[in-house]
Amino acid sequence: MDLTPAPAPEAAPPLGLLAELTHRCPLHCGYCSNPLELIEREKELSTEQWTRVFTQARDIGVLQVHLSGGEPLARPDLPELVSHVSGLGAYVNLVTSGLGLTEARLADLADRGLDHVQLSVQGATAERADLLAGARAHHHKITAAALVRARGLPLTVNAVLHRGNHDQLAGLIELAEAMGADRLELANTQYYGWALRNRAALMPTPEQLAAAEPVVRAAIERLKGTMEIVYVLADYYEPYPKPCMHGWGALQLTVAPDGTVLPCPAASAITTLTLDNVKDTPLGDIWYKSGSFNAYRGEEWMPDLCRSCDRRALDHGGCRCQAFLLTGDAAATDPVCSKSDRRGVVDLLLATPGAAPPEMVMRGPRPVAAVHR
Ligand code: SF4
Ligand code: FES
Repeated sequence: MDLTPAPAPEAAPPLGLLAELTHRCPLHCGYCSNPLELIEREKELSTEQWTRVFTQARDIGVLQVHLSGGEPLARPDLPELVSHVSGLGAYVNLVTSGLGLTEARLADLADRGLDHVQLSVQGATAERADLLAGARAHHHKITAAALVRARGLPLTVNAVLHRGNHDQLAGLIELAEAMGADRLELANTQYYGWALRNRAALMPTPEQLAAAEPVVRAAIERLKGTMEIVYVLADYYEPYPKPCMHGWGALQLTVAPDGTVLPCPAASAITTLTLDNVKDTPLGDIWYKSGSFNAYRGEEWMPDLCRSCDRRALDHGGCRCQAFLLTGDAAATDPVCSKSDRRGVVDLLLATPGAAPPEMVMRGPRPVAAVHR
């Protein structure tokens, strides 16, 4: 496939940087969207390399930095990195499982300029949540949320929805309320990385999705002004694709633990894409000039179907990673689109009888049995 960039459209500066500080994580979620091959600790960027990345990001206009992973608290230099990002004047968000977030660590991070915490939850009850996380984690999350609220920091709770927890949707909303969340993301699983391998086990039933809709709608209405609720659709069931990343190379960039710069967090799955590394190339050059960021930027790359479609400004032709994973062609119309002649790929997945889905394979490297000991 020819990835020679089309004449680069005028790219606006990036708004956000997702910094995947490490792939190390104490949880083993089957819906993990990180790649099958995790980047080892030895290959992670050093403190000095990360600070350089943040400075370069700020220089090209990044306003929000999301410190993520894996579990960013696994990095002992996290306080230093928070100080650096905050000192640059960017908004600092910590995306965490909550494990390892003690009162002292949070106080230190807040003093250094942490602005916001996003906390993951796996289920509404400890029993289910711990089963889905592959670790005794739920009580740590309750504690972490209380610490964040006591510190006066804004809190987003993120719950990934799938067949194994859709029945707890109402409970998840109650849990986020009890935690004092300002925002709740209820995100149906997207099938990338490890989650793709578990797709058959994760896919919700049409009945679960139908039951969810009125529950979410009622909660949005009831909690207006108290807690914002964002519901991310299960796009396989939709007639049109999601506006993934608000367009390729449009708003945000991701830096993987080893410095690989990705137009979206799942982009390493597109094996036809040549990715650059911040160890070799300045971030600004990668954002504005690289083949990877220009490959699907704007509308030039679109197949005729999308280029002539009224919805192209709404969904940007859908998701490039999904197009690649389902059709082998990252420049194809996202096959979720009902106008695509490849929609049959998705319909076939939906038609697969789901009465007895396969068991979910927990994210490695440690076996679940070892985690439960
Ligand atoms: Fe979106 Fe392309 Fe489908 Fe139109 S044809 S709805 S632009 S994916
Ligand atoms: Fe990569 Fe959608 S997840 S473009």
